[in-house]
Amino acid sequence: MSKFPDEKGPQRPYTLLQVTLHWLVVLLILGQWYTSRAIPRTHNPLLPPSDTDLIQHAIHTYAGIVVGIVMATRLLLKFASYRRQPPMPPVLTERLASIVHGGLYLAVLCQVAAGFITTYLWGPARVVHAFFWDVILILTSIHIAAAVYHLTRGDGVFRRMIP
Ligand code: HEM
Ligand code: HEM
Repeated sequence: MSKFPDEKGPQRPYTLLQVTLHWLVVLLILGQWYTSRAIPRTHNPLLPPSDTDLIQHAIHTYAGIVVGIVMATRLLLKFASYRRQPPMPPVLTERLASIVHGGLYLAVLCQVAAGFITTYLWGPARVVHAFFWDVILILTSIHIAAAVYHLTRGDGVFRRMIP
């Protein structure tokens, strides 16, 4: 039994679709990190790229665009669900959570835009792409630390993202 019963049941702020898309983005971003390492090998002028590296490069490009579409969909779903959500208590932790969540939406969308620009429009934007990766790593570390904190507290916040 949770110590904070108000956070359960009908007050759950995320639909199954939102929860599914959250974990889909997590999986895709792990894939983006893995496939990104093949990209410099495909641009090496001294060695012809392997088929595996070329496939990973293509996966990085198209899966990255999918991340952008899913994140934009999540933002729309979030705004659409505002009226169903319980009013947020004006406490510091909720404000901090909003800032980190907003930062994650922004950083991931900027990351996708920078990757797109690097690939199709202007190569030097790779510096911006690398910068936003660092921002994502920092915000995700804070986010995971907060998730684990809520899990150990058993206050129901972690359960919001479990289907
Ligand atoms: C949220 C989605 C994405 C994530 C998390 C991601 C992540 C990464 C990471 C970690 C790197 C290595 C950066 C470095 O340290 O140099 C990288 C490189 C790269 N990414 Fe992405 N990426 C994403 C989306 C995209 C998209 C949509 C495209 C293109 C349409 C793209 C194209 C590239 C390219 C061309 C590079 C190589 C840049 C270079 O030559 O230094 N990425 N990406
Ligand atoms: C790159 C990886 C991740 C990204 C980009 C991300 C992004 C987000 C965003 C934007 C939200 C807010 C949802 C909304 O209000 O619409 C959220 C909520 C949440 N995430 Fe993540 N997340 C990531 C990884 C994780 C991981 C690994 C965990 C668990 C260890 C996790 C647990 C949660 C939980 C429990 C919530 C609900 C928090 C609340 O309602 O206050 N996330 N995530």
